[in-house]
Amino acid sequence: SNETLILGIETSCDETSAAVVQNGTKILSNVISSQIDVHRKFGGVVPEVASRRHVERITLIIQKALEDAETCLEEVDAIAVTKGPGLVGALLIGVSAAKALAFATGKPLVPVHHIAGHIYANHLVKPLTFPLVALVVSGGHTELIYMTRHNQFERLGKTRDDAAGEAFDKVARLMKLPYPGGPQIDRLAIQGEPRYQLPRAWLETDSLDFSFSGLKSAVMNLVNKARQRGEEINYTDLACSFQMAVLDVLVEKSIRAVKKTKVKHLLLAGGVSANSSLRIRLTERARQEGIELGIPPLELCTDNAAMIAAAGTYQFLDGKHADLSLNADANFSL
Ligand code: KG4
Ligand code: ZN
Repeated sequence: SNETLILGIETSCDETSAAVVQNGTKILSNVISSQIDVHRKFGGVVPEVASRRHVERITLIIQKALEDAETCLEEVDAIAVTKGPGLVGALLIGVSAAKALAFATGKPLVPVHHIAGHIYANHLVKPLTFPLVALVVSGGHTELIYMTRHNQFERLGKTRDDAAGEAFDKVARLMKLPYPGGPQIDRLAIQGEPRYQLPRAWLETDSLDFSFSGLKSAVMNLVNKARQRGEEINYTDLACSFQMAVLDVLVEKSIRAVKKTKVKHLLLAGGVSANSSLRIRLTERARQEGIELGIPPLELCTDNAAMIAAAGTYQFLDGKHADLSLNADANFSL
């Protein structure tokens, strides 16, 4: 048939996921097994623990993805897998599983960049319209990406230190909130007032790069000073102030990137795009500027294999396959 059926596999961090996607746009299944409960007691993802859990789950998750899609391995056209970036030990589990399946079936193996996956989460909702700019904000990345067609990515800017999600998680930890901190801060911030003054790193006038480590340090200093002086900190207001400092920069730089490239389409992607205030503010700002904004539904913002299968579809169609020597790459660049 002329349908393209791709099996996607994602194990870059703490979600074990497999999915079947038809024609790059239609999710037939998307099975996600989160390890958050396992890592919460450590206050963050423990790489070794993540790998072990992926090994235990991966085969069952793949089986379930095929079952849910009412298909079988013989029916899929290719096996797409996250090659990187991510935790190398975690990535290797998905890559090994994908290679074994490709070897057993003779099907093409398609290596996918995790960030490309996050961008393509949008494609599962509404087909991408080029040219576009995507703001990718996750626990490991904060990047502005320019695309003129499928499978082609130009980086306009990136974080020079911490990723936005990482800053959320670290600040949350400082406030003794459970892991992952992003959703906790999101929830608190809504009830707070931005009455603590915190820095925004705009960097050079034209720069589309980001920096969040100064903001994180400023929050840390504020908390430490207050503790020394025996003063009360209002964590709700601090969460609100911190979040506002992050969002001011994310929103403003995204709009700058859109204007610089003269595109009409802006996409939000990555775990932090689950942030309710970011979604509201970017929607509002895009409307004012006459920009068409795409935001994935919450379940497609965080790590999942459907987005990997979607991105993998266009790589498969472009003939960008890997052989069985494929390796994971923790620092894989787009
Ligand atoms: O994309 P993702 O699932 O994994 C990576 O590729 O990193 O993103 C996870 C990150 C974590 O840092 C988490 O705290 C953050 O996304 N996050 C949020 C929210 N939900 C998840 N950050 C802010 N607000 C949220 N609602
Ligand atoms: Zn991710």
